[in-house]
Amino acid sequence: MTQQILLASLFILFLQKWLFENTLVYKQYDQVKDILRQMNSLVLVNYYNNRNHFSSYRSFRFDLSKSQVQLNETYCNQSDTFKFYHPDIVLKDIHTTRDTDDLTQEIVQSISFIKITNYTEGKIKNKSVVPEVLTIPFNYYDSYLTKTNTGLSAMCLFQKHNHMRGRQQLAYKNELLNNYYLYVDRLKKMPEICSTNVTYIPKSYRLWLKDECSAFFEYINTPEYEQKFQKQGPQFISKLGLEVHRGAGITMLFQKETQQLIKEYQNGQNCGQISKYVIAQKYINNPYLFKGHKIEFRIYFIIASTYPLIVYAYDSSLIRRCATPFDKFSLEKSSHVCNTAIVKKKIEGQDLDEDKQFFISWKLDYLQELLLKQKKIKSKKWLEEYLYPKIHTTIQHLIMSTQHFFDIDSKLSEFFGVDFMLTDDLQIYVLEVNSNPQLLKTTPERVVQNTKLVKDILEIQVAYLRSKYVRLRSLIKSFLANQPTIQKFEKDFKEAYKDKLEPEFPISSNNLFRKIVDKNLKDSKAYNDLIQTKCIL
Ligand SMILES: *[C@@H]1O[C@H](CO)[C@@H](O)[C@H](O)[C@H]1NC(C)=O
Ligand SMILES: *[C@@H]1O[C@H](CO)[C@@H](O)[C@H](O)[C@H]1NC(C)=O
Ligand SMILES: *[C@@H]1O[C@H](CO)[C@@H](O)[C@H](O)[C@H]1NC(C)=O
Ligand SMILES: *[C@@H]1O[C@H](CO)[C@@H](O)[C@H](O)[C@H]1NC(C)=O
Ligand SMILES: *[C@@H]1O[C@H](CO)[C@@H](O)[C@H](O)[C@H]1NC(C)=O
Repeated sequence: MTQQILLASLFILFLQKWLFENTLVYKQYDQVKDILRQMNSLVLVNYYNNRNHFSSYRSFRFDLSKSQVQLNETYCNQSDTFKFYHPDIVLKDIHTTRDTDDLTQEIVQSISFIKITNYTEGKIKNKSVVPEVLTIPFNYYDSYLTKTNTGLSAMCLFQKHNHMRGRQQLAYKNELLNNYYLYVDRLKKMPEICSTNVTYIPKSYRLWLKDECSAFFEYINTPEYEQKFQKQGPQFISKLGLEVHRGAGITMLFQKETQQLIKEYQNGQNCGQISKYVIAQKYINNPYLFKGHKIEFRIYFIIASTYPLIVYAYDSSLIRRCATPFDKFSLEKSSHVCNTAIVKKKIEGQDLDEDKQFFISWKLDYLQELLLKQKKIKSKKWLEEYLYPKIHTTIQHLIMSTQHFFDIDSKLSEFFGVDFMLTDDLQIYVLEVNSNPQLLKTTPERVVQNTKLVKDILEIQVAYLRSKYVRLRSLIKSFLANQPTIQKFEKDFKEAYKDKLEPEFPISSNNLFRKIVDKNLKDSKAYNDLIQTKCIL
């Protein structure tokens, strides 16, 4: 009996406290709005501010910023205030959008989805309006970052976007290579051991740079090159830079193709005059073979935040094989380059056939079993102890070589897929990095896998957003109770705005993403101890 009374009075006390706090907050509506406005202003000054970018300078491809969404100066003030008073919008629901009609749209639609009407159809010039409840825009295009009509005020305190600027520094082959070589140079000034794992890109010549171009043509005119070519087959492939993916723009430098290149560059005479982003890259001609075919595997990773830098890599991986059996002398491109685009051309068939035929597995475990059977490895922990660390540290180096291009902000994130090849002696090389990789629905299995993948990404987005929301909300309440100095306001805000998971929003244990970078942690711990403290830039 007494226990019940105690419980009841405790409950009443709790209710009173809750009512008191909340009415207090409602009474202070104008102050709340003002605090949020000040926070937004701090963000504009200290973090990503799209207003700085879209007018004078754009390095984005226009066709990656298509959607027409209208926002105005008051959008974030309204959206943030609305969410402050309706915590369920952030803490219970997911309000997301997808601008393209694809599998990802079907998936996010099944979770929670806001349809933003397309008013641009026909002659109507009206632009769509973004709803205030939007929390996790999951668009294909990055217009929220780049278009003038959205740029004014897109991305509020309580939103997490799936794009960021700087992603093309990884995704464009020419930039990837530039960044790799700059990184290699910087590492040369550090202890020698720091360069150990930075060998994931085969020797390359950037033909738009006069010196490297000349060196390349000099080399292919040597007897050494000629001898190797006769004995080992093609020595180089050429790749086009910028955003060319899925096998397009890749040429095996067989005899005829080499002659064409020699002609185009006048055997090196034209070096320095041709600014096209052509890369000549050493061809790795000892691939690991699956039933006689070369294979490649794609590892998905997300930059979950850039304030601080947080990166997750996916445990499942798309393993594919080349269309035709590998032979280093084969003149078939599809024997050397296993890419969907090329494979499709080769088969003249449906995506479906292609996918079934060339898709090997969704798990690297399969590779381990195969290697065990073939006695190429002995340990059943090979994946955990060798391959995953190798993959993860390669992604860490990819990030380290490009991180200075990322805008620092906890509102930003990005999704990537990196294609690796495996050599016969079990080394890995990066073939290319795709941002926004396509998620196909070619087979029922692929739909299941990709659905899990998108849900896993969203879970991470949501967990970080909710964590930040809870921190900022309690900060606002504390500011209402005790008016802070400007310094304290700024300092506390910057701390609360930093992405990190609060204990009440853990990532579920069956989420297949694993954290591989977390700059909330110190020194080599930030890199799961895969990169030594003295090697961190
Ligand atoms: C909305 O917030 C911005 C800062 O993000 C501020 O410059 C602007 O004055 C605010 N507008 C209103 C109407 O409060
Ligand atoms: C800005 O947008 C809000 C809601 O989307 C609207 O209520 C308001 O009138 C707009 N303000 C201007 C100046 O267009
Ligand atoms: C909106 O409509 C225009 C005109 O029909 C079309 O070009 C555009 O692709 C549509 N956008 C979306 C996101 O559906
Ligand atoms: C477009 O905007 C005009 C003027 O603001 C309005 O009268 C009209 O109803 C709008 N059309 C649509 C389809 O929303
Ligand atoms: C090289 O990578 C391995 C993982 O493959 C890691 O264990 C090792 O610490 C790295 N070495 C250096 C010097 O970073």
